[in-house]
Amino acid sequence: MRSQKISTKENSKLSNEIDKLRVPKHIAIIMDGNGRWASKKGLPRSFGHNKGVNVLKEIIKVSKNLDCQVLTVYAFSTENWTRPSTEVDFLINLFEKVLKKEITEIHQESIKIKFIGDLSPFPKALKSIINSSETLTKNNKNFTLNICVNYGGRQEIVKAAREIAIKSLAGEIKPSEIDEQLFNSQLLTHGIKDPELLIRTSGEKRISNFLLWQLAYSEIYITDVLWPDFNEIEFFKAIIDYQSRDRRFGGIQSLPNKSCKDSNYSS
Ligand code: FPP
Repeated sequence: MRSQKISTKENSKLSNEIDKLRVPKHIAIIMDGNGRWASKKGLPRSFGHNKGVNVLKEIIKVSKNLDCQVLTVYAFSTENWTRPSTEVDFLINLFEKVLKKEITEIHQESIKIKFIGDLSPFPKALKSIINSSETLTKNNKNFTLNICVNYGGRQEIVKAAREIAIKSLAGEIKPSEIDEQLFNSQLLTHGIKDPELLIRTSGEKRISNFLLWQLAYSEIYITDVLWPDFNEIEFFKAIIDYQSRDRRFGGIQSLPNKSCKDSNYSS
């Protein structure tokens, strides 16, 4: 009871420190540490992933309340296939189970859900629920949740390069027309503005093949907290830290790390 009171007090103290007009409009998250969290407690790794889903739900709610418009989370990387097949199967089943259970509420909350990555190796049942969830929510306007699955930044860049080469060979694009904007339009994230902030939990100081192109100028916040222990307070800390940064984008003059209110952050 006492600790709940303290944390409510800390929540509102931190919430008051946030400049609500400068909340990043797009936050990317590497949700790391599920396995270690469970092992530390002597539990199977799957318990960490289950707890991780609850944390994600909380962070979506908090982000929405803060008027952050887009969250992009790394749920399964192209490298995660190397895990034991029991864990891979567990994660695939978890994605399907969570989507089935939550999609009605996600839609009621006017959240647009989008999966980013190569879905082809996933089982038919998962692909089907992903497809129907994206179709159901495609016109929702309140918030966008991008879930990266079987996603790899290098693979995404190679795919974009290949598509541009094909168009160029077909005479649709001249090499002189290839610029950042055109390249960007071939990425899986086309139509979505780059994240202003990347949060990585569990203390690892790596990008791990996540959004390699899109994170070029993002602020990076790393916390030792493991994803299953991440919460509203830790999220507020990340935003307060972000708001203290001096964003110069390679120049010498500070630009306000202000998010543009009227920008459309999702397609
Ligand atoms: C990283 O922790 C976490 C993952 C590979 C899976 C993340 C997935 C979720 C939180 C579930 C999301 C659910 C939906 C429906 C989007 P780790 O296992 O690498 O932890 P470790 O580094 O401690 O081993």
